[in-house]
Amino acid sequence: MKIVLGPASAELGEKIAQLADIEKVSVASKTFPDGESYIRLEGAVQDEHVVIVQTTSSPQDSRLIQLAFMAAAAKRSKARKVTVVVPYLAYARQDKIFLEGENISIETVASMLHAAGVDALITVNMHAENALARFPFPAKSISAIPLLAEYFTQKGFKKAFALAPDKGAMHIADEAQRILGGEAGHLEKKRDRYTGQVNVTKKDFNVKGKTAIIFDDIISTGGTIVGAAKILKELGAAKIYAACVHALLIGDAEKRILDAGVEEIIGTDSVFSLASKVTLAPLISKELKALKSG
Ligand code: R5P
Repeated sequence: MKIVLGPASAELGEKIAQLADIEKVSVASKTFPDGESYIRLEGAVQDEHVVIVQTTSSPQDSRLIQLAFMAAAAKRSKARKVTVVVPYLAYARQDKIFLEGENISIETVASMLHAAGVDALITVNMHAENALARFPFPAKSISAIPLLAEYFTQKGFKKAFALAPDKGAMHIADEAQRILGGEAGHLEKKRDRYTGQVNVTKKDFNVKGKTAIIFDDIISTGGTIVGAAKILKELGAAKIYAACVHALLIGDAEKRILDAGVEEIIGTDSVFSLASKVTLAPLISKELKALKSG
């Protein structure tokens, strides 16, 4: 097995390679003056099971193209198998038709990767895992929530309240709660499909005087966390934290979240941001070690 260090996740790829004790292949990449992408694998991969590590946060489209190019280059160089590790998988939220005339974007992304030569995919906390069934090759999502919860237990926050901003994220809050050992609950969230505006509403639970941590898979514009934090304040939470796997933090999201009374935003290195305080390397290297020995 060899690990290809995709340009979008070279640092994470290095850490994974070191922990899993797998040989690395670096990648030369550039963008041509007209905006087209170029990549070249800088090592031999013939007869190898090649694992390409490349996240696809913004700029999503060029990172996806780079990923497809790396997979195709590996196959051209006679790799035996190509597995892609995509910590943040772009377009996973468009996993069904919400409005007439739309595309199921994640299905198109999966077909494109398949055509490029991808044989298997591993991602982290995919928005809706049932979309993986649409992939034409084996694909799985692994969870970084235990790593995030452990970050808080190491800070001494055992028994903190784990809050999901909506029912769909309750499995995430439950997963965190099993490590934190406190209670868990969820709010209600509605998003306007045309404007993207979110409206978060209250549910009944007791957070008065407690530390509450809002857990979500993604923080994008921050609207969801701001709405949830306002409700936690109204309910008398003593301290509020926001934890997510993919801290996209678009525009002034970080400022808006902190202004809403959140003490700290904690994310992983699936996406590079100031909130990337927890590394996915132990989680992914464990997965690759199992693949190696399996
Ligand atoms: C969607 O349901 C996700 O789980 C997140 O809650 C959402 O992507 C967060 O988006 P934003 O930060 O823009 O509210």
